[in-house]
Amino acid sequence: MSQFDVVVIGAGPGGYIAAIRAAQLGFKTACIDAGVNKAGDAPALGGTCLNVGCIPSKALLQSSEHFHAAKHDFAEHGITVGSVKFDAAKMIERKDAIVTKLTGGIKFLFQKNKVESLFGKGSLKGRNGDLWQVEVDDKGKKTIIEAKHVIIATGSIPRPLPLIEIDNVNVLDNEGALNLTKVPKKLGVIGSGVIGLEMGSVWKRVGSEVIILEALPTFLAAADQQIAKEAFKVFTKEQGLVIELGVKLNEIKNSKKGVTVSYEVDGQAKEETFDKLIVSIGRIPNTEGLNAEAVGLEKDERGFIKVDAECHTNLPNVWAIGDVVRGPMLAHKASDEGVAVAERIAGQKPHLDFNTIPFVIYTDPEIAWVGKTEEQLKAEGIEYKKGTSGFGANGRALGLGKAKGTVKVLACAKTDRVLGVHMIGPMVSELVAEGVMSMEFSASSEDIARIVHAHPTLSEVLHEAALAVDKRALHG
Ligand code: FAD
Ligand code: NAI
Repeated sequence: MSQFDVVVIGAGPGGYIAAIRAAQLGFKTACIDAGVNKAGDAPALGGTCLNVGCIPSKALLQSSEHFHAAKHDFAEHGITVGSVKFDAAKMIERKDAIVTKLTGGIKFLFQKNKVESLFGKGSLKGRNGDLWQVEVDDKGKKTIIEAKHVIIATGSIPRPLPLIEIDNVNVLDNEGALNLTKVPKKLGVIGSGVIGLEMGSVWKRVGSEVIILEALPTFLAAADQQIAKEAFKVFTKEQGLVIELGVKLNEIKNSKKGVTVSYEVDGQAKEETFDKLIVSIGRIPNTEGLNAEAVGLEKDERGFIKVDAECHTNLPNVWAIGDVVRGPMLAHKASDEGVAVAERIAGQKPHLDFNTIPFVIYTDPEIAWVGKTEEQLKAEGIEYKKGTSGFGANGRALGLGKAKGTVKVLACAKTDRVLGVHMIGPMVSELVAEGVMSMEFSASSEDIARIVHAHPTLSEVLHEAALAVDKRALHG
């Protein structure tokens, strides 16, 4: 029977990174994963993120942005391209090639770091002295391996909507939404969260009529509301996305005609029939097949594996990370927890600060933030100062043809320490890193204001917002 120091179950961004870090630290490591490629005929490492999440969605966002730019923006640069055509199947083919390249890259990284990659479903069987027994089930062919430490990184799956079943033909989850080879004439989306906005943007840019139905009365409730309001205006008024808030779904019917959704807004009954419907109402932890109950692995009331601040479960030497535990369901959070757990097993003292995890929504303009929102600071009774600056007069943004958006810096009224940075604008997915770094180093807004920022760059808007905290913006 093979014995390991560390066995990781799941090779998403949490699990594969944990396995690599454990191997780097000198542990004999194996990583078990049950993921298969799109054709279903070969193992595919990388989990949700690489196969049906972060990476493919960003590929489609880029393709659709290029199409939109060629159609609507090139002319003002003096570029005439004649009639611009869009081939959805080609866009999906490009996306698939990126996925294949990156999932293959993990296989290579495992070989390079001497991580043993095992295909199949992993489950906890019990203890043999100090060791955990883990079963690997490769389509019925079962093997038992043993490990001192087990890291569970089994991720998440789409939250089902009781009103309708996903068939990934007409009613789509993230997997289906990332694989449409024809542009739907009319696309419905349930949920105006991250997937709804990113996927809604992709298909709107390439010609679909898109209607997003959101249960909450507030748009992007977790984001700073000044930024959320600006985003709502751009998405609905300028880009033509229809976003209905405060929706109560009554009935959904999937027939040959399409998918008919009956719902209410403000007590008014409405009905829409769509060619395709994306259901993106959040994700739930995936613990299926782990044998959690039999070995006494505790979960919370929402089904997440219970862990302490260091990702220990209630079982000795069993750890859990990523989407299957509390905290934001983000790839970088999963990876950083993976590194931290491997280092803890090695006796190190890593620290992961949940308050400095960045959030990004890859719409156009992009939305990104780190730290507390104004609403949170008010609710917590923390006195703060704020500085804002816009992209409207930023030379780089004007050159890019993307001079829209705002950066807001929130700092403690007493100490000036940066408490939050909120952005909507071009490439703010990259700019937010400066906010993260500032917060990690306990910077004050004055620190950001005194740092030299290259000209002309988008980062000058963050510089101006930091200056504005002390009411000394130079271009405001
Ligand atoms: P996962 O990536 O879900 O990986 C879990 C792995 O475990 C899978 O390979 C699964 O097959 C395997 N597994 C499960 N059970 C078993 C078992 N019993 N035995 C063996 N293997 C098992 N996050 C971002 O930070 N940025 C983004 O831009 C972003 N975009 C997204 C877009 C979409 C459409 C979606 C759906 C998600 C997106 N996310 C994004 C979220 C991100 O994908 C997740 O937070 C991340 O993948 C979680 O990583 P994980 O390792 O915890 O789990
Ligand atoms: P989400 O949590 O972002 O949004 C779900 C939305 O659906 C919420 O606004 C919620 O109020 C709404 N909703 C819930 N039930 C509803 C109902 N019955 N009717 C109408 N609306 C309803 O979840 P989403 O978009 O499914 O994404 C899942 C997770 O994947 C995200 O939370 C995020 O962690 C991750 N993700 C991250 C991305 C990024 O970092 N750029 C991109 C895409 C996904």
